[in-house]
Amino acid sequence: MKAETNKGIFITFEGIDGSGKSTQMELAAEFLRSREFDVITTREPGGTKLAERIRNVLLDVSLGGCVTPMAELLLYLASRHQHSAEIIAPHLERDGVVLCDRFADSSTAYQGAGRGLGIELVESLNELVIPRWPDLTILIDIPEDKAFSRMGRRSPDRLEKEGINFLRVVRSAFLELSERHPERFAVVESRERLEETATHVRNILERFLAKKL
Ligand code: TYD
Repeated sequence: MKAETNKGIFITFEGIDGSGKSTQMELAAEFLRSREFDVITTREPGGTKLAERIRNVLLDVSLGGCVTPMAELLLYLASRHQHSAEIIAPHLERDGVVLCDRFADSSTAYQGAGRGLGIELVESLNELVIPRWPDLTILIDIPEDKAFSRMGRRSPDRLEKEGINFLRVVRSAFLELSERHPERFAVVESRERLEETATHVRNILERFLAKKL
């Protein structure tokens, strides 16, 4: 059963690996808390006991290419349904603010475009598992070569091992999604200095809140 709700504020952060979106989400949470909002931060894949286990499977390097694109998508969707029902929808229902590091658009970009399953198919399957589409999606955009060199410092998970061409396809899918859904997407260029990116994100949040409240 789908846990739908119209309450609260639901904001997602998207971008390719190495875009710096997780740091930006934490800074955005601090900003919103300073405005007295009841904010939780969470992430995909993960956020619940079951979803964290699915995450371990999905990112396991030893599985290499042994996962079909459709199996991969269905695992992300299973994780998303649990996460939505257990964490996201209840907090929205309490009129809170949920900030989520990756959500449905990641599946559309990575599995729909990156793995070639098709954007429309993945968007319609996402519809089955989410409480609603986000009110605002902040896409932290970065050229794939810059993202790749930032990632160089850590050891890559199973998806990151796909390499730079995969990231290029995923990045352009995210940008395409921002054009398909301009009513909820805001694109922020990832700057060298994270404070500059954070200022841009804060301005977007200010404008969003001014319209919403
Ligand atoms: P994670 O370590 O969270 O990466 P990041 O810090 O960049 O968010 O790993 C998540 C990986 O899973 C990332 O490579 C993107 C991928 N992913 C998908 O392919 N589809 C999805 O639906 C989601 C949520 C993530």
